[in-house]
Amino acid sequence: MNAIKNIKGTHDILPDEVCKWQELEKIVRNICSQFGYHEIRTPVFEETRLFSRTVGEDTDIVSKEMYTWEDRDGKSLTLRPELTASVARSYIQHNLNVKAQVQRLYYIGALFRRERPQKGRQRQFHQFGVEAFGSNNPEQDAEIIGMAWRILSVCDLNAETTLHINSIGSQECRHKYRIALKKYLNPLKGDLSDTSKKRLETNPLRILDTKIEKEIDILKNAPNISEFYSDNDKTHFEQLKKLLKCLRIPYTINNRLVRGLDYYTNTVFEFISDKVGSQNALIGGGRYDNLVESIGGKTTPGIGFAAGMERFIIAMDKTGRIFKQPKPDVYFICLNEISIKTMISISMKIREIGFTVISDPLRRSLKSQLRDANRLEASFALILGETEIERGTLCLKNLKNGSQEEILQSEILKYFNSLGT
Ligand code: HAM
Repeated sequence: MNAIKNIKGTHDILPDEVCKWQELEKIVRNICSQFGYHEIRTPVFEETRLFSRTVGEDTDIVSKEMYTWEDRDGKSLTLRPELTASVARSYIQHNLNVKAQVQRLYYIGALFRRERPQKGRQRQFHQFGVEAFGSNNPEQDAEIIGMAWRILSVCDLNAETTLHINSIGSQECRHKYRIALKKYLNPLKGDLSDTSKKRLETNPLRILDTKIEKEIDILKNAPNISEFYSDNDKTHFEQLKKLLKCLRIPYTINNRLVRGLDYYTNTVFEFISDKVGSQNALIGGGRYDNLVESIGGKTTPGIGFAAGMERFIIAMDKTGRIFKQPKPDVYFICLNEISIKTMISISMKIREIGFTVISDPLRRSLKSQLRDANRLEASFALILGETEIERGTLCLKNLKNGSQEEILQSEILKYFNSLGT
């Protein structure tokens, strides 16, 4: 049989890499809790209509990237391509609005999109993200952007990332802007790509996202969304900018930033890295004041962001960050069969007081086991040979400085306790 391999666009995260993920997760959990956010975990699959209604039928995600299947009872199910909709569904279903007027939630998990795999873009990828429900004030936007900035800063990434922000206004503003943009682009339709021609009919704002030079040129003279803001849209955006200044978070206004999901209103933002190649959006987010209502909840404003963890790790690696690999404190070397019982019971007791102990289940020679202990960068080797068994002792070798001493087995816990964990 041919060897079975993982599916294209998915990755194994091997033990050498896992320490990076654990470090990032620890940073995320610490900062989320400093801001009063609590973790939420939702299922990896949901009803398909949850995503088609919120993310939007015409978006790339829903129209071509979802893993969707018909379940045995005929229901259409989908592996979650993002988490905001799932979290909003859970917020409504469990009446979280009753528990607290402002619900602050965070998540870490796997997502699925059938995109063309490349560096920083996978079919199964991971995000951490935050969502805050209940406030439509700009200080909530500033809190969310501030959290993203704090996480980037603790990961040593804020010097190389630029915050792009935009307001895509209220529904009314976008309606007027859509008409104006269509009016401007219609006579130039012949110069647009097939995708943009289609978007001109379905969702003209998405054309602003184009990476094609010729289209970028055409858009230079297009009307700007800011001309269509209502007074509320304007005030909200102005206040947010002031709060970002107060937090000393540098930003660039990018009126072409629209984001690829339909649920956004007003504030949208992305943190773009200049070090990770073409898949350079480390974090994307925005406000979604109509999302909860659109899936049957009470009108509830909300804002959040999500970050691609694979991209974060590529960027953190590039900074030369040293990730700590866990190393054993003790490598217990047992040299004959009769001492195995003594070894496993002492090992367990040393673990119970907080140390990492490993031993060799292959019954190899002293030399091989010492080599293994050094390879793993253990701090100590505890050696139990015939002499030690007879004398009720252990040979304790400090592998960092080479010193060696004999310790009574009954004293060994006292010794490790005196070191502290
Ligand atoms: P998104 O922009 O689709 O937004 O994804 C957020 C981040 O996830 C991206 O900036 C990127 O870092 C990462 N990402 C997306 N697709 C892939 C992929 N195929 N491979 C690797 N990384 C990827 C959302 O998902 C929204 N739910 C964000 C949000 C939360 N808005 C409000 N709250």
